[in-house]
Amino acid sequence: VAGNDHQAENATVSQGAVESNHAGFTGTGFVNYDNVAGSYVEFTVDAATAGNYRLAFRFANGTTADRPMDIAVNGVPVSAGLSFPGTGAWTTWVEKSVTAGLVAGANKVRATATTAGGGPNLDRLSATAPADAEPPTA
Ligand code: GCU
Repeated sequence: VAGNDHQAENATVSQGAVESNHAGFTGTGFVNYDNVAGSYVEFTVDAATAGNYRLAFRFANGTTADRPMDIAVNGVPVSAGLSFPGTGAWTTWVEKSVTAGLVAGANKVRATATTAGGGPNLDRLSATAPADAEPPTA
């Protein structure tokens, strides 16, 4: 099975609320970031082995304004102001991915809103080892 799914509603939330009023989420809901810079969701991602992983954030943004977020792993920035643009509707969910190194064992992956709009609505983080994401090579 490729992928290691982490539901935002089970993550640590600072300045946000778990909601379920916009269809299309996975699990039991999503996190609605407060409309403030600094609001964040932090996932604990257990990696079987150290290495680079694809971190895919599933989100919706029903506005036309970007909702950029800083992505950090274990306190180290890996992407500053990553764009989470409008998706057309709060019920339209898409994934935005970055590649980041994880250590073996527990990793803290934090997505922090950087603008006054706060973050998008965040459904899930999937952490996938590149070996699982690519087709086999001969
Ligand atoms: C609306 C929407 C929320 C969303 C919020 C926002 O209130 O219903 O789900 O989080 O806008 O702009 O952040």
